Amino acid sequence: MHPNDVTKSYELTEAGDRYFDGLVDKFSRSLYQAPRGELRLAMLDYLLPQMLQLKEQPVLDIGGGLGQQAAWFAKRGHAVTMTEPSDDMLNHAKQWHQDDSALPHELITYLQAPLQQLDQQAPGAWPLITCHAVLEWLGDPQAALTTLSHLLAPGGQLSLMVFNRDALRFSNVVKGNLEKALRDRLAGKGKRQRLTPISPVSHAEIEQWSAANGLQIASVAGIRVFQDYLRKPPVTPEENETLIALEKQYCRQDPHWRLGRYLLYTLIKPEAGK
Ligand SMILES: C[S@@+](CC[C@H](N)C(=O)[O-])C[C@H]1O[C@@H](n2cnc3c(N)ncnc32)[C@H](O)[C@@H]1O
Repeated sequence: MHPNDVTKSYELTEAGDRYFDGLVDKFSRSLYQAPRGELRLAMLDYLLPQMLQLKEQPVLDIGGGLGQQAAWFAKRGHAVTMTEPSDDMLNHAKQWHQDDSALPHELITYLQAPLQQLDQQAPGAWPLITCHAVLEWLGDPQAALTTLSHLLAPGGQLSLMVFNRDALRFSNVVKGNLEKALRDRLAGKGKRQRLTPISPVSHAEIEQWSAANGLQIASVAGIRVFQDYLRKPPVTPEENETLIALEKQYCRQDPHWRLGRYLLYTLIKPEAGK
């Protein structure tokens, strides 16, 4: 059966992945039209130029969703291959890109495919890969990191962002979901329109999986290290600016980055002999 035939029921695929078919509106509303999406984009805009060596190299954007990251790279002169298994998400991204007259459209290529098929459909090897907020939607995130390491060129950089299992626990406790946290029943099931990831990932896992695949962790940051824990969210634009300044100040500092809602890594595939 073609993967899309499975996802049209808006459940998990045979591999246990959650494609975002049927979730465009929910995802766009609850993330990117909300303060948390705004903060995520502001932090990526701030962190990616610090954490990556950007030289207009070609980029493979995996699970590109609504297309923000592909647009960000294209506007900086990178040729981007945006891949996404969900028809709905990919069509939405294409339309959104089309509507942006400032975007160099010729720099973006679209490929409807899951990560697991990219070694055949976009083998590279790639000097720069982005895979943001995708691993936590897969049945086997560890296997995905192995595929990512094969797609990377020697010396290549992987910008990996994952939903942080430890932060999920902490925010559940803060919200009073004590029993759920104690039983460690925090992962989502990927049913209906729920946006709680099915495979949250810990920093310890990323350390182990990277080492097992010969990838080096060059840098790490937390995204949304404070925002989810606020008792008094910002009300005025000035308060919001202050929160963004705080997030920027502490996102790479111990211990704060460790409880970021997302962990952002630059992983490097060493060149032979290095
Ligand atoms: C939370 S969204 C992240 C989208 C985008 N990268 C971002 O940061 O906004 C997760 C995306 O992963 C996609 N996805 C799910 N399973 C996948 C797979 N096996 N391969 C690649 N992408 C997948 C979903 O369709 C969805 O668009």
